Amino acid sequence: MYVADSKRYDSMQYRRSGRSGIQLPAVSLGLWHNFGGVDNFENSRAMLRRAFDLGITHFDLANNYGPPYGSAEENFGQIFKKDFLPYRDELIISTKAGWDMWPGPYGDLGSRKYLLASLDQSLKRMGLEYVDIFYHHRPDPDTPMEESLGALDMAARSGRALYVGISAYNAKQTAEAVKILRALGTPCLIHQPKYSMFVRDPEQGLLDVLGKEGVGCIVFSPLAQGLLSDRYLKGVPADSRAARNVFLKKQDTEATMAKVQTLNEIAHARGQSLAEMAVAWVLRDPRVTSALVGTSKVSQVDDNVAALKNLKFSADELKKIDGILG
Ligand SMILES: NC(=O)c1ccc[n+]([C@@H]2O[C@H](COP(=O)([O-])OP(=O)(O)OC[C@H]3O[C@@H](n4cnc5c(N)ncnc54)[C@H](OP(=O)(O)O)[C@@H]3O)[C@@H](O)[C@H]2O)c1
Repeated sequence: MYVADSKRYDSMQYRRSGRSGIQLPAVSLGLWHNFGGVDNFENSRAMLRRAFDLGITHFDLANNYGPPYGSAEENFGQIFKKDFLPYRDELIISTKAGWDMWPGPYGDLGSRKYLLASLDQSLKRMGLEYVDIFYHHRPDPDTPMEESLGALDMAARSGRALYVGISAYNAKQTAEAVKILRALGTPCLIHQPKYSMFVRDPEQGLLDVLGKEGVGCIVFSPLAQGLLSDRYLKGVPADSRAARNVFLKKQDTEATMAKVQTLNEIAHARGQSLAEMAVAWVLRDPRVTSALVGTSKVSQVDDNVAALKNLKFSADELKKIDGILG
């Protein structure tokens, strides 16, 4: 039987999500990869246990995480029932809908029909009565924003979700969404954008909107899916994500790897691994509430949390990093 570490709240740092009552751990765990039906169940379970023991109170899912789609939620549901049931009120569990999930016109994008049906399916797969955060996973260019966000409002009002969030909305769309949700009476708790040393789009206005509007920000892929770690310094290991993912492999060019090598040297000079520095780097901005990492091993959970030992960057370090990234 799993009994959570009694010291789990001793060293984790928590940050407030915008102007809300919710604090999130500075490092959160995402279940996009390595928690699906094709993965080792006991390894997934061990990572979730370790994360919670280290004070990671937030697990992030989506309807289509797996593969196959839905299986990460199913596995999480089983693990939740076995290990985390007594800790439900200590956890923030999120899910999302917005990408393709089932065939036909009602299983994708942003209609009220899709979003609410998907949330019901997610709750069933996870065996939960409610999620803490329900996200619209991406904006739908053909559905009025009022409809998609109205569905989030309904999710909250009906008790299926405590809070709502958005993902992949750009700065302008976010400003509009925040206004609509506020008028509906269900404020936007949080935005989930992609952000890392390699992907800096949120700096082009999104972080400003979130800061001004008091909306939290949980950034995904802070390690650029593992490129910002020592994982690929000597080639592509057989058990790595790039070995299984053609898209990631394509980015693994010589120019990118030269940058990774130099960043690795800066990290070592700071007394950190590159993965630790990558996590610390996104958290250097106080508008970032949490770094949402993925892991394939228990040791990676530990490494990523160890980033919190040094979140300070000197002006010189930041200048050097910007210089490398060009
Ligand atoms: N909203 C959205 O549209 C969206 C999109 C993508 C992701 N997300 C969320 O964000 C979460 C994280 O995304 P991500 O998995 O791409 O994040 P990431 O943290 O950038 O990449 C995770 C991968 O990096 C490697 N890694 C992690 N820690 C490491 C360490 N300490 N040392 C060496 N390598 C390490 C592992 O690769 P190996 O597997 O090769 O070991 C791991 O699978 C997802 O699970 C999901 O919840 C959201």
